[in-house]
Amino acid sequence: MDGSRSLRDRVALITGAGAGLGRAYALLLAARGASVMVQDIDRATAEETAGAIRATGGTAWACVCDIADPPALQPALRAAGVAPGGIHILVNNAGIDAARTIEEVTVAEFDRMFGVHVKGTFFATQTVIGGMKARRHGKIVNISSINGMIADSTDSHYNGAKAAILGLTKAWAKEFAPWRINVNAVAPGHVVTAATIQRGAARMERISRERIPLGRYATPEEIAHTVAFLVSSESDFITGQVVSPNGGEAIVGI
Ligand SMILES: NC(=O)c1ccc[n+]([C@@H]2O[C@H](COP(=O)([O-])OP(=O)(O)OC[C@H]3O[C@@H](n4cnc5c(N)ncnc54)[C@H](O)[C@@H]3O)[C@@H](O)[C@H]2O)c1
Repeated sequence: MDGSRSLRDRVALITGAGAGLGRAYALLLAARGASVMVQDIDRATAEETAGAIRATGGTAWACVCDIADPPALQPALRAAGVAPGGIHILVNNAGIDAARTIEEVTVAEFDRMFGVHVKGTFFATQTVIGGMKARRHGKIVNISSINGMIADSTDSHYNGAKAAILGLTKAWAKEFAPWRINVNAVAPGHVVTAATIQRGAARMERISRERIPLGRYATPEEIAHTVAFLVSSESDFITGQVVSPNGGEAIVGI
């Protein structure tokens, strides 16, 4: 493999990597040579993803905790076999979704939405940043959403949490730049996942036709390629940016 794409000798912590997009990131980063800490709240899926990586000759560990519970991450990493200072790559991916109008959202649901996305991203980064600073190198990718940029008419608490992740990304890009730590956000558009398949082929076909210039949903692997680029040395001069693989659904900026 081209040396600048290789992730050999890198340890990657990917939150919410038991299922969905996080699992796709874990498999691709492992295929590029990274050792992967598969973090998830669900032990069975975390172990399944880690096992799938090991079955192909890679190195992976399952790390089980609730990412919205900051003190739990450090002992979970140590129990899985890697000290927080040993993480070179962090992908803050764990997320939840819920279609709710403002009247429907309870205080507990609001706290959970911001707890998983914003508190989880903030304190996972705080947990591993010391090692990256000591090495004067690191790659952080925060998973936002197209809805963090252009929003949607439902789910304002989700949209707000994903927008907050963009704010963290931009601030950290400046804060950590002196240590050559790159911080970027990936804001996926519509992706073919178990959840979107469950909502029906007719809905997917209508959204593809009406809203997405490229006329289809992304595959998880396409989003994973964006993440793999941003954690490799190919992207060493990119920091504080929002990369949105969305098929042209949102074309923003100057
Ligand atoms: N699927 C899409 O179309 C899409 C689009 C834009 C952004 N995203 C974002 O991508 C990320 C992954 O989405 P997905 O579709 O793969 O979701 P998913 O539900 O398939 O997977 C999410 C994973 O995160 C884990 N998780 C949830 N809460 C957790 C917690 N508190 N601590 C640790 N792990 C936890 C789940 O167990 C699961 O394995 C999310 O942040 C989501 O908002 C997804």
